[in-house]
Amino acid sequence: MRSFRRNAGSPAKRGERLMNGAQMKVVAFNGSAHKGGNTAILLRYVLKELENEGIATELIELSGSEIHGCRACGTCAANKDRRCSQKGDMGNAYIEKMVEADGILLGSPTYFANISPEIAALMDRACFVSRANGSLFRRKVGAAVVAVRRAGAIPAFDALNHFFFFSEMIVPGSSYWNVGIGREPGDVEQDAEGIRTMKTLGQNMAWLLKKLKN
Ligand SMILES: Cc1cc2nc3c(=O)[nH]c(=O)nc-3n(C[C@H](O)[C@H](O)[C@H](O)COP(=O)(O)O)c2cc1C
Repeated sequence: MRSFRRNAGSPAKRGERLMNGAQMKVVAFNGSAHKGGNTAILLRYVLKELENEGIATELIELSGSEIHGCRACGTCAANKDRRCSQKGDMGNAYIEKMVEADGILLGSPTYFANISPEIAALMDRACFVSRANGSLFRRKVGAAVVAVRRAGAIPAFDALNHFFFFSEMIVPGSSYWNVGIGREPGDVEQDAEGIRTMKTLGQNMAWLLKKLKN
């Protein structure tokens, strides 16, 4: 797993720092089966705007990494140790990434008018661990991004947003729903409005992060 990309160079790229000197971070999760596909491309447009504002970013592709669904065992509520009881996969590593970030992006392709099973598994487990430990993501900034061929993007967008609202997070908007249209990996590059929407989302997310953190 890559770690957060830090910026150096121009004043903005030197990093938007908090008063305690720590650089802000946003972690993005791509729930698609395609690494580097349409969802990843859309997420990268958002991340690029954040990086332009000096915010460190990291994109995590769930494809190919093990992430199982919630077992509904209730151990997280009993132990309250900020961890899921399942130790054999990437769940806890991803939850830790979320805890240490100031902002969280969740991206999914539309699969049968809904989100992918991988991102759903991460959301279910992270949400339960957060709730069991006094709302670990409270007042972090969160946003959803969806890739779609034709129909069903809004239910998928809605499903991702439930995570943020349920977790007491703050959600910035864009100029339209955060959806990009494309079928084969790379097709979203042809969706000029979708890309504009991602760029605006990244700018608004950076603005909100700075307002909240400074
Ligand atoms: C299992 C599966 C189900 C899909 N269901 C839908 C759907 O309901 N509506 C739609 O418009 N596209 C659907 N698609 C197409 C993808 O949403 C679309 O190709 C998207 O751009 C893929 O993004 P990616 O490159 O990040 O994987 C489906 C694709 C797969 C593999």
